[in-house]
Amino acid sequence: MTKTFSGQLADIRLPIFNVPPQPEKPVRSPEETARLKERIRTLLREQDAVLVAHYYTDGDLQDLAEETGGCVADSLEMARFGTEHPASTLVVAGVRFMGETSKILNNEKRVLMPDLAATCSLDEGCPIELFSRFCDEHPDHTVVVYANTSAEVKARSHWVVTSGIALPIVQYLAERGEKILWGPDQHLGRYVQRMTGVEMLLWPGSCVVHEGFRAEALEEMMRRHPEAAVLVHPESPQAVVDLADVVGSTTALIHAVRDLPNPEFIVATEPGIFNKMQQVAPEKKLFVAPTAGEGATCESCARCAWMAMNSLEKVAEVLEKGTNEILVSPELAAKARVPIQRMLDFAGKMKEKAGAKKE
Ligand code: 13P
Ligand code: SF4
Repeated sequence: MTKTFSGQLADIRLPIFNVPPQPEKPVRSPEETARLKERIRTLLREQDAVLVAHYYTDGDLQDLAEETGGCVADSLEMARFGTEHPASTLVVAGVRFMGETSKILNNEKRVLMPDLAATCSLDEGCPIELFSRFCDEHPDHTVVVYANTSAEVKARSHWVVTSGIALPIVQYLAERGEKILWGPDQHLGRYVQRMTGVEMLLWPGSCVVHEGFRAEALEEMMRRHPEAAVLVHPESPQAVVDLADVVGSTTALIHAVRDLPNPEFIVATEPGIFNKMQQVAPEKKLFVAPTAGEGATCESCARCAWMAMNSLEKVAEVLEKGTNEILVSPELAAKARVPIQRMLDFAGKMKEKAGAKKE
């Protein structure tokens, strides 16, 4: 492959993959939901298992994870939680890379996922052969990949980052004079570039959900809700990020709803997060930022079809049958663990420093 860049964006043709239709939400009465949750509670106890869920999953699932001593978190915290919890089985409700990351960090534990087809457009758009070739063409670059990638891509990288920690890590590497190759999310990459002033070579991947947010429609919505603060996940296009009052990881956006005085919020990220936002600030009003189809043929309305594949029914089924186990060979896990552990160690040091400053 020749070195063909348009600006900093790599001129690479990504593979074509299917985005599934939005799965139907299971229909059940509150009594049936309560019975199902009780069944899962028993199964978790019997199997020494803990439920770890992402903020974008179904609200019932998130609630159950918390009620049973598991966690609901962003992808960084999900990874960390699994390493600290003593359970021998982790049930990871999210998308595949989250289950893989848990398995990489806890190779001795059993990791189950409600649906193995739950993937992510960033992962799908960054196949290892193509990505590896790109890295080989730039051997003088430090490879920094977003957590939304396969175990193989992580193993090919020097650092793994999540949106919650990308900025300080890139800043740190740049201060050491390192040149950076970034993958796979171009929008997050561009945001990191702009915030740090560090130029990076960008893989041209994107999140099909966040890419759907539209700046013009958002401006119109902002006019209708002048008191609302605009919260944007940095996987969104730059024109949308430019309109934000707060740009940040899922956790940062939840904190913004809790801490800002605004009575209303327009949120440009997956609306599964509203479950936690309403929990921390029940009196505040939340609106999903408009997507490509607002008022017309909105097919997804910012919902991630892969995240929506997780359900209570499937959690019960995998616990009962022991199916959908995530397997990562010990050799691959050992390689992929290195860049993830770097991130976790970096996060730990940042926390220590913040603690020392407070004292
Ligand atoms: P977080 O790392 O903020 O949890 O985001 C993961 C993700 O998939 C965002 O679309
Ligand atoms: Fe991947 Fe986007 Fe879904 Fe997050 S919202 S899991 S980045 S497709």
